[in-house]
Amino acid sequence: MDVGCIEFHGVKLKEKEKMIRNCQVNHLNNPLGFRMENPLIFHWVAEGLPGKKTAASRIVVHELSRTDEKITVAADTGFAQLDSLAAPVEVPLKPETRYAWTVTVRTDTGAEETGPEQYFETGHSGEPWHAKWIGCDDDEPRHPVFSKEIHPSGRVVRARLYITGLGLYEAAIDGKKIGDEFLAPGCNNYSSWVQVQTYDVTDRISGSCTLSVTLGNGWYKGRFGFTDLQAPWYGNSWKLLAELVLSYEDGTTASIGTDESWQVTRSNITFSNIYDGEQRDDTLPPVPAVPARLTDAPEGKITDRLSVPVTISTELPVKEKIITPKGETVMDMGQNLAGIFHLKLHHPARGSRIHLQFGEVLQDDCFYRGNLRSAKAEYWYTSDGSDVTLQPMFTFYGYRYVKIEGVPDVDPADFTALALTSDMYRTGALTTGDEKINRLIANADWSRMDNFIDVPTDCPQRDERMGWTGDAEVFCPTALFQSDATAFYRKFLYDLRTEQQMLGGMVPVVVPSFDQKKLCGAAWSDVATIMPWTIYQFTGDASVLAESFDSMKAWVEYMRVREEDGHRWMKQFQFGDWLALDGDGKPDSVFGGTDNGFIAEVYYLYSTRITARTAAVLGKAEEAAHYDELAKNILADIRDTFFTPVGHCSIRTQTACLLSLALGLSPRPETVADDLKDLLLHSDNKLQTGFIGTPMLCEILSETGNPYLAWQILFNEEFPGWLYEVNLGATTIWERWNSLEPDGHVSSTGMNSFNHYSYGAIVTWIRERAAGLRRDPAVPGFRKVIFAPEPHARLHYADVTYDSAAGRWSACWELRSEKDITIRLHVPFDCEAEVLLPNAPESVYSDSSNPLFASVHSEVKICHVGPGDYSVSYTATTPFHRIWHASLTLRELLSYPAAARTVREVCPRVERLPAMYREFPLPEAIDAWDPNLVPADQLKKLDDALRKVV
Ligand code: BGC
Repeated sequence: MDVGCIEFHGVKLKEKEKMIRNCQVNHLNNPLGFRMENPLIFHWVAEGLPGKKTAASRIVVHELSRTDEKITVAADTGFAQLDSLAAPVEVPLKPETRYAWTVTVRTDTGAEETGPEQYFETGHSGEPWHAKWIGCDDDEPRHPVFSKEIHPSGRVVRARLYITGLGLYEAAIDGKKIGDEFLAPGCNNYSSWVQVQTYDVTDRISGSCTLSVTLGNGWYKGRFGFTDLQAPWYGNSWKLLAELVLSYEDGTTASIGTDESWQVTRSNITFSNIYDGEQRDDTLPPVPAVPARLTDAPEGKITDRLSVPVTISTELPVKEKIITPKGETVMDMGQNLAGIFHLKLHHPARGSRIHLQFGEVLQDDCFYRGNLRSAKAEYWYTSDGSDVTLQPMFTFYGYRYVKIEGVPDVDPADFTALALTSDMYRTGALTTGDEKINRLIANADWSRMDNFIDVPTDCPQRDERMGWTGDAEVFCPTALFQSDATAFYRKFLYDLRTEQQMLGGMVPVVVPSFDQKKLCGAAWSDVATIMPWTIYQFTGDASVLAESFDSMKAWVEYMRVREEDGHRWMKQFQFGDWLALDGDGKPDSVFGGTDNGFIAEVYYLYSTRITARTAAVLGKAEEAAHYDELAKNILADIRDTFFTPVGHCSIRTQTACLLSLALGLSPRPETVADDLKDLLLHSDNKLQTGFIGTPMLCEILSETGNPYLAWQILFNEEFPGWLYEVNLGATTIWERWNSLEPDGHVSSTGMNSFNHYSYGAIVTWIRERAAGLRRDPAVPGFRKVIFAPEPHARLHYADVTYDSAAGRWSACWELRSEKDITIRLHVPFDCEAEVLLPNAPESVYSDSSNPLFASVHSEVKICHVGPGDYSVSYTATTPFHRIWHASLTLRELLSYPAAARTVREVCPRVERLPAMYREFPLPEAIDAWDPNLVPADQLKKLDDALRKVV
């Protein structure tokens, strides 16, 4: 994708300076061959224009000839009130046709600016295929290579290859790969649709050449799936469909499609599988070419692509070559990643066998892969004695360490990791003054990239790598900050809807479903409502809601029917607060302690509310009223079943309290907020939450006025907590809070991945509350932000940049002491912000020279500002950390490591207080148990020392 960009941590960050930039159609930059339906959704960002607002905009679309000349105006909106977040425009679309478009923005000053010319090109769909499906002998393990000699009859001015192949394909011209994508045609339910890619190969065809296509097994044909690992879920046969369309200088065209005239020979790849890796044998003799056979079309509908291409995001050199105590040669990449590799071999012996195995962690300094379960994750190569650079074609690995056998004295410079990910721009950057928090943020970023290989997966290494919907639901807001993930998610939602239609409204827990067609579950299946709603919040594009509205309704209806039939929904199997620590306490335990029926009921309410709001956004008042009414009834049921008359939730877990507060379940939220604090305190202010509770934990603590408790939980460096894993060297987010034990041993092998992004959802809290950049919930698309940072002195600073749908926001706070703060904010063109200054003295607001305070009126201390740059420095009324002192309870003091250390250093005797006295303020507890325990001057000393704790 070719909009201007700069590299940032190996991923792309959009360029700042362009006046009108990030011009997209259907959330894609200059899309080629993507599925398109009317109306098309246009989007752009205007920046640095004269004035504050857009007055009107105009989109002009031209149809182009095969030589890229403008033929006709396909659409012209004239100057109109177009929404730059998502402007729907009807364009008469022809297949295989390129269109050029521009947007012109007129601002409130009357100035006009036209953005750079952009393109989109339709794919093959709609045009009859001249090509036929071809195949070969499927019993031969050597992977087929189909080929065709191409002899152009004149000068080629444009050439397009429309192609798909099952399971996977890689196409080449004269042996050189076409395009830069991997694992095409992508992963989806092939029984319902098969994606076609379009490649611009104009520059590759200057005369006679050979077009060849190698097929692999991939998700379609290989073993893949969760429960029945042997079954190929979608098909057993290799299949290819391709059409090369050449346009000649004289205006004629030729179509060369797959048919019996194609030849098939065999590659040296003898095995490929997503889980197990690849095998190649270069000593095998060449196989004489035979004519390809015609074969049946696959079951799924041939459709222009929706998948964003999977490309190499980063090339990583070896960080360290290790010879382990067992004598193994292991390369440490220094980073857990998902992808493939390059290995250069120099003068290998003919017949020598090279074996690579991939793993995420070492155990006792030795290579380890017990947590990959049945996934072999390996690469085998037999050499013919020639120098070669090895690179797998039809697999990927989740790894940080690679064990290499068969290469004597391997030079680390000969191995390079190639990280793969679905190609999308990085949109968010977040840094703080704390290296461990920064590492955590980077880990979440890596886990997103590693788990965005065409499908939002749970993990990239073991025998799963599937689109678990719960994981996708939990992480989606974080991913939408980190990256321009909308097009990627739209493909996932398309998959979801096609699955759901086949399953009568049920949303499976895995999409694409493979072997998981029978199971649905709360929070997992609710991705059907939560994800489109979240995307709408981030993009302001209501078309995403319109696409998903029927699916939302069908999912709510699915739950309603079961719920109204003897609470069948509540009673069925649920994953619940997956991996929470308050379950049965066994090391391999996966179920949390929060009642699953409660969770089921709460998510039923949540999805119903989202459906009601979606109906309202789409202007469907009657349906909005219907779902509002249903939501009211569900809430009443929840209150009757799970709440006491005074508002306590009868389920006493952290997650139950969090859900109650997040969804306003209790008539008395303050009661539940107290219960939550109490429960936290009784687990030493450490989290017990799993997939459901964790993403809400810090947010709810901030929302209920306890930001320092949120900070305390985040800063916790012991198990369980985010920094525990950072301290143990994590470079991605772990699946379990204790994936590694403190001694570095893997805690269990049944289900234990080191690259599971769900708990990385904490980055949303760091952005929204720690750094302070939060979308106004009433205004989608980041047109309006509430900037209300909740600084902590231990962090020194937090700096956030977000290239939102509405424009590039940046904000930061910086502390020069525990009270002296500077705050900066950039509000983009056509946007506004509400600014709340933390702990600011009254006097700050009277500084009339600062434009930040232009709209502040006497008592109202919220600043409303429009586009521009703002900054303010002040001395806060109280320090930016919790004030610790000797009147707190001992339990509370011991829950914070720095305070506990102080207690132990200054006044160790207080630890003699029996358990029941630890719940009372220290002076009272001492008085009640043993007034002689600590003399008054000692307590005063403790108080003084505690007040210095940050
Ligand atoms: C996956 C999870 C997933 C879960 C279902 C696991 O095996 O790795 O992340 O959500 O199953 O509860």
